[in-house]
Amino acid sequence: MSDTAAPRHPMRVFSGVQPSGGLTLGNYLGALRRFVEMQDRGVDSLFCLVDLHAITVWQDPAKLRHATRELAAGFLAAGIDPARSILFNQSQVAAHAELAWIFNCVARMGWLNRMTQFKDKAGKNRENASVGLFAYPALMAADILAYHATHVPVGEDQKQHLELTRDIAIKFNHDYGVDFFPVVEPVIEGVATRVMSLRDGTRKMSKSDASDMSRINLTDDADTIAQKFRKARTDPEPLPETPAGLEGRAEARNLVNIYAALSDTSTEAVLAEFAGQGFGAFKPKLADLAVATLAPLSAEMTRLMADPAEIDRLLGDGADRADALAQPVMAQVCEIVGMIRSRPAR
Ligand code: TYM
Repeated sequence: MSDTAAPRHPMRVFSGVQPSGGLTLGNYLGALRRFVEMQDRGVDSLFCLVDLHAITVWQDPAKLRHATRELAAGFLAAGIDPARSILFNQSQVAAHAELAWIFNCVARMGWLNRMTQFKDKAGKNRENASVGLFAYPALMAADILAYHATHVPVGEDQKQHLELTRDIAIKFNHDYGVDFFPVVEPVIEGVATRVMSLRDGTRKMSKSDASDMSRINLTDDADTIAQKFRKARTDPEPLPETPAGLEGRAEARNLVNIYAALSDTSTEAVLAEFAGQGFGAFKPKLADLAVATLAPLSAEMTRLMADPAEIDRLLGDGADRADALAQPVMAQVCEIVGMIRSRPAR
């Protein structure tokens, strides 16, 4: 990870996860685990449950509230320490929506029209997609830039959105003749930046996939995890000796990468151990490893979910701290843009 992107701005990490359904193994390995690593390295970090993003597609209000608390529990169980990192939900800090509006006026229709995630999510029925779904990446830019964050750890699927965040920062700075927003650095690292579906190695593992067998949920019990890996699509060949031997074997590569990520080693090391073995031998080992990692996590989530008031208190505290960082940035943005702010600071 380079920290040369914005030497004028001290290194600060921001990342977000949508509370739209439960957490998958993809979210855990591609995002949460890496957030914890950054926190543990002592980097100044903010982690946000992006409920404003979630409602760009319809969410049942009671389920959204539940999913937001469950996601907070997932972060805490994975090792995010609210004393060291700021953990909060997006809608409690007004700067996100305020800055997103300003960025809606900076971003160009053509830029947003090119976003593959919008095309995927809107599908054929684009006319019926919400305006929020179209403007989604401008809100994401606001999330990050409201804190002058410099580094954003994400999975591979967020790369295009972060390029747009960079374009928005550059255009804002250029249009207003300032050097105000940092040009953020995406941090897409490790073996699990794109965990794939267990049913189809060409599609990413996703909480919105119609088939529950395609994903491991953090809340799945041991039997379900074992069954999902047992039924995972593979090929009849034994495992090769080197990563080059996984070429053209998307499903095999995915399971090897999951094993490597769960055991904190490399693809090479996993192949050195399992070369020549078939999936009949490999899958049960993978299932055991996943259960050993996820069982304590889901037990801790259940324990935390028994006290929703405490989760809400932690999120409120995180939002206060985030708000204190974002307010001075917003005051400067208004000054730069030419908006009068004559009310006393809250
Ligand atoms: P979301 O909620 O879809 O996913 C949260 C994080 O998990 C990663 N991820 C994966 N990583 C590896 N393999 C997978 N199969 C997999 N599925 C998901 C995602 O890349 C992401 O890092 N737009 C964002 C949320 C967001 C955000 C932000 C992120 C809003 N504002 C600001 C960073 C900074 C999203 O929908 O993530």
